[in-house]
Parts: sequence; structure tokens; C-alpha cells
Amino acid sequence: MEKETFSNHQVASLMNEHFIAIKVDREEHPDVDNAYMDFIMETKGNGGWPLNCILMPDGKPLYAGTYFKPIEWMQLLNRFRNLHDQHPESLVDFSRQYLQHSLELSQKTKKGDFNFIGSFSEWSYFLDIKNGGIPTFVNATAGTTVLGAFDPIDEIAVITEKYNIWLHVDGAYCGSVIFSDKYKHLIKGVERSDSFSYNAHKMLGTPLTCSIILVNDKKQMHESFSNEADYLYQTDGDDFNLGKTSFQCGRRNDALKFWTLWKSVGAEGLEKIIDQQFELATVARDYVSTHKDYTLYSFDDSISICFNYKNIDPMLLCTTLYEHQITVVGFGSFNEDTFVRLVTINANNSKQDILNFFKVLEEFVENHSTLLNEKLVLGAEV
Ligand SMILES: Cc1ncc(COP(=O)(O)O)c(C=O)c1O
Repeated sequence: MEKETFSNHQVASLMNEHFIAIKVDREEHPDVDNAYMDFIMETKGNGGWPLNCILMPDGKPLYAGTYFKPIEWMQLLNRFRNLHDQHPESLVDFSRQYLQHSLELSQKTKKGDFNFIGSFSEWSYFLDIKNGGIPTFVNATAGTTVLGAFDPIDEIAVITEKYNIWLHVDGAYCGSVIFSDKYKHLIKGVERSDSFSYNAHKMLGTPLTCSIILVNDKKQMHESFSNEADYLYQTDGDDFNLGKTSFQCGRRNDALKFWTLWKSVGAEGLEKIIDQQFELATVARDYVSTHKDYTLYSFDDSISICFNYKNIDPMLLCTTLYEHQITVVGFGSFNEDTFVRLVTINANNSKQDILNFFKVLEEFVENHSTLLNEKLVLGAEV
């Protein structure tokens, strides 16, 4: 890049006129390299060298990337130059927010989960517009599919409210925490969203499918889904023509599954279901973190307990357990890590069942010691 881009005359004059160029030798200053590598990992999910960053005068990062051809680098520099001229406050806000957020993150977690604020922020909103895009909606997740992580809805809502962007909260996996006094803080700010969905067929255990979507104003459902179909909709008011406010005509009765559950166990019963899952998760997380043969990958507030045991290839371990009809447990990946993923979503389980899971797993490995050295070869017998 030094030869192709930085030695280019046009690039050099743009950089000299509007930026201060600093070159860091990463062997001399691994601390500087590490700090900005963390930034690129968090905002993009992967990083590498050459590592190029655009910074505030005080060193706070705004943007990071790896290799840029002259034209790409100039386009990027010009975008930041324009942002700086037209919306300097957005750059200051973003750099402050990022720093605060990464401090909180490093206090909370051992490994950096890809977190929303790092990837979506005021400046990416501006970059979308500069690139000719129109931001339509922002999706925050309450319970990411693999790690069960929660996006900070309140922080995201500050940005979506400011720019009047639709905010959806995807709580398909863990949005049902709304029924628990103890855990609903995980979706704090959900009332600021425009739409919120959760699947009662996940944490609440109703039969499939039972997906629920809530919107602030019911006319939004009507405007999104309604079609003229006089041959179908023949009642007076559309309140009873549920096909006019939902994705599929035939889905309306899905609500019955949730209604009967709620009627039978009450709001207290729903709360117990949720709390039990978090309690089981705590049992599993405590077990993994206090036994030296295990490595933990999960957060505190998650019902997905992700771990590895004795460095065994997790795909091999899960597949072998399944093929020997011992137990069914899945695996998942995040960034460069792959791990066993135990989901404590069955509230009928007891603490003893969870501890028993680990006992069964350990005994199995003891009796199949070849697992310790093998890699998964699809179709191969262990
Ligand atoms: C975060 C998240 N969103 C959406 C879905 C999709 O769920 P469904 O298709 O059952 O509504 C899932 C499924 O696991 C999920 O974890």
C-alpha cells in the first residue's frame, strides 16, 4: 500500500492538506497496534495489516480498514473530510461513545462479542447517506442466535430517534425476558422501539410456530400487510380480519398457543419459566468456569453456555455424542472460535439435569480417549 497508494501524488497532497499522517512501527509500538486492532475487530469483525485508521486529533478512532487502493483511500478521506466540515459534532459524539462503550465491554467480557454500537453509529448513518443509501430500519437483537447476547437498546434508540429511523427489536430467541421482573432489564429501552418480536415457541416453550410481533401503532400492521380480498374478509371491522394485519392469512390462530399458555400458568408462571432458564444457565456457567478442563465463551446474562472441553474439536465431540446416542447438543462459532453450545431453554430441567449433562460428557470422553487427538472427518467412525 505504501508504494501503490501513499506514494501516489494525488493521495499524498490530499492527506497533507487535510490530515496529519502518522506511521507507526508495530514492533516498536505494539500497544498502539493492539488498541487500534481491537477497534477494527469490534467494528468489522475481522482485521489485519496494513492497518489504516482515521482518528480524532486526540487519538480516538473513527474508522479502520486494511488495504485501500488509491481511489478507495481518497474516497474515504473525502468522506471524512466532508463529515468533518458539515457535521463535526457527529465525529466527536461517535468517538466518545465508542470509547465509553469499549471500556464497558472490556469490563464485562473476556472476549469481545461483536456489539451493535461498534458497527452502527452516527457516522455509519452519514456514510450510508453519502454513499447514496437510505437508512430504513435498524435491527437490535435481544438474544443473538449463537451467544445469546443482548444489544443495548437504550443506546441504539438515542440514534434512531435522532434520525427518525425505524427501530426493530428482534427478540425471537430471548425477547420473552419481558415476562420476568428479574431479567427484563436486559431489554431496557424496548418501549422506545417501533416494533418488537419474540417467539413464544422458544423460551416459553409453546408448540411451533408462535411468533409474536408488537408495534406501537396497529395501523402500521395494516399498512404493511393489508390486501383487498372481499372474497375473504367479510366482517364489518378489520379488527376481526386478522389476515389484514399479519403476514399470512392462516397464521392468526398461532396466537391461541400463547393465549392458552398464559391463561393456564398466568403471568407468574411465565416469569418462572424464564427465571428457571437463567438459573440453569448460571449452574452451567459456574460449572464450566470452575472446572479447569473447560474454556468458557459466554456472557453472564445468556442462556447459551458456550464452552470447550479439554480442547476437543467441538464439532467432533457433538457429532460423536449424537452418533453414539448419548445426548444431543449443538456447536456454534463466533469469530475465530468454535465451541459446544448448551442452551438451557428447557425450564423443565433441574439443576441436577444440567450437572448430569457434564458428568455424562466427561465419562464419555474418558471412555473415548481418541477424541482428544482427533479432528472431525465427515462420515468417519471414531
Ligand atoms: C435472533 C433470532 N432471530 C430470528 C430467528 C428466527 O426465528 P423464527 O424463524 O422461528 O421466527 C431466530 C431463530 O433462532 C433467532 O435466533
